[in-house]
Amino acid sequence: MKTVPSSTLKVLVAASEAEPFIKVGGLGDVAGSLPSALVDYFKETPDLPALDIRLFIPFHSQIQTSKFAIKKEISFPVMGASETFMADVYACGSLKFPAYLIAGEPIPTDASVYDPNPIVDGKKFSFFSLAIVEFCRAVGWIPDIIFANDWHTALVPYLAKDQERFGLIFEKTRTILGVHNLPFMGGGTQAGLKEMGIKPSQDFRLPKWARHMPLPLGLDSADRIITVSPGYAREILTPEFGCGLDGFLYTCQSKVTGILNGLDTVTWNPAKDPLIVETYTKLSLQKRAVNKQEILTRLGLEYDPRTPLIIMISRIDQQKGIDLALEAIKNLTGRKFQIVILGVGDPALEDACKTLEETMPDKARFLQRFDQTLSHQLYSAGDMILIPSRYEPCGLTQMIAMRYGCVPIARNTGGLSDTILDSKLETDQTGFLFDKASPEACEKCIERALNAFINQPGWQKIQKNGMKTDLSWKHSAKKYADEFISLWKKSSSP
Ligand code: GLC
Repeated sequence: MKTVPSSTLKVLVAASEAEPFIKVGGLGDVAGSLPSALVDYFKETPDLPALDIRLFIPFHSQIQTSKFAIKKEISFPVMGASETFMADVYACGSLKFPAYLIAGEPIPTDASVYDPNPIVDGKKFSFFSLAIVEFCRAVGWIPDIIFANDWHTALVPYLAKDQERFGLIFEKTRTILGVHNLPFMGGGTQAGLKEMGIKPSQDFRLPKWARHMPLPLGLDSADRIITVSPGYAREILTPEFGCGLDGFLYTCQSKVTGILNGLDTVTWNPAKDPLIVETYTKLSLQKRAVNKQEILTRLGLEYDPRTPLIIMISRIDQQKGIDLALEAIKNLTGRKFQIVILGVGDPALEDACKTLEETMPDKARFLQRFDQTLSHQLYSAGDMILIPSRYEPCGLTQMIAMRYGCVPIARNTGGLSDTILDSKLETDQTGFLFDKASPEACEKCIERALNAFINQPGWQKIQKNGMKTDLSWKHSAKKYADEFISLWKKSSSP
């Protein structure tokens, strides 16, 4: 029988962004909260080894250094194709686990987290990935598990297996690539990779076009591929969602799995949320009316408890199906509802949102900004949230909304399917789902929700079901721990 080694399990987490340092999207939430959930899980669970988990992110210029105890740990050279770049690694000791911020010339000190020029980002994230692996070598900390995320750090598993550069140092290290968004593969970054001396893959199983792109290189090299929901793990094996890699992924499907993201239930808690006007629980749902009245008044909309308030809190882009929603809303002319959209993104779609507000001044508002405080207030006030995503690897908004008693109306895809139950029977229903990514299907689904809203006792049951659902990190932390331990056992057995 194989036994778990008694020493400490060493896990390296790499990501382009992570809370509390910097967050641009959902990846930042997950990369910050998963290590912390794992630390708790390992501490609370008997018979598990000790966990030494460390997070690596680039030292982006927007990180507010004064908020954290950061000190320089080490500097070392990183070899590019024809130039050597110094990497400066800063350690932060203010979290539950060590976090490292990596700086160096290829990570510009005056730019945004993601650069519009893919070559700049190619060089930046190649340097960052190389520096992570070099750091391990320099300090002699060789992780048992490397857990990289999305295209930006997908090169870490690829590099750890590059024996020309690193010999057999990482022979026993097992690697996982977390997939939060498959279509973003790091296309157009080739020149940046080349500058850092990173060679394309020779693996004939990968389509030719993918052999120099960071995400496919990581998918090919990693021992496990973990998408952020089980539904998305199934979807990426199909032509509709596989982005041309479905054939390749199908050939290695035994290493593909999905683990649902959890929610930070401390930050998102309607019973204690300091950002909302009136806090509440599922036993005092009537208090939500105060929040609704307050926000509608602030936005110059009339308050009527019988008029459902639909909210959308989203990046304004194609993936999120904003165009489908706008089309559907326009067609719901005879119905009573109000809609508030919060978010920024694609200028053409933002214009379409503005037009909606202009054509429905007594019903619609578009708040063109990223506003965390306002998002809390909207979750606590809205009756329904519309999430018509074309694809959704996991999605956090539906989870937050359910916790706040705001009922999701969503496309039946990826993590949305895995978290929302549309059972027609009010006994366990938590939301409303539609299959096809079309305005008609979206419209019909909204109508179904509007009709259900009329029966208030039934509606409150749906709200309470959502609020009762356990969406915390607990279950998922266990699943990640199981993955780590099983890989670890494999690498330590003779
Ligand atoms: C990406 C996905 C989203 C997911 C998030 C965190 O932003 O689009 O569905 O929730 O990553 O994993």
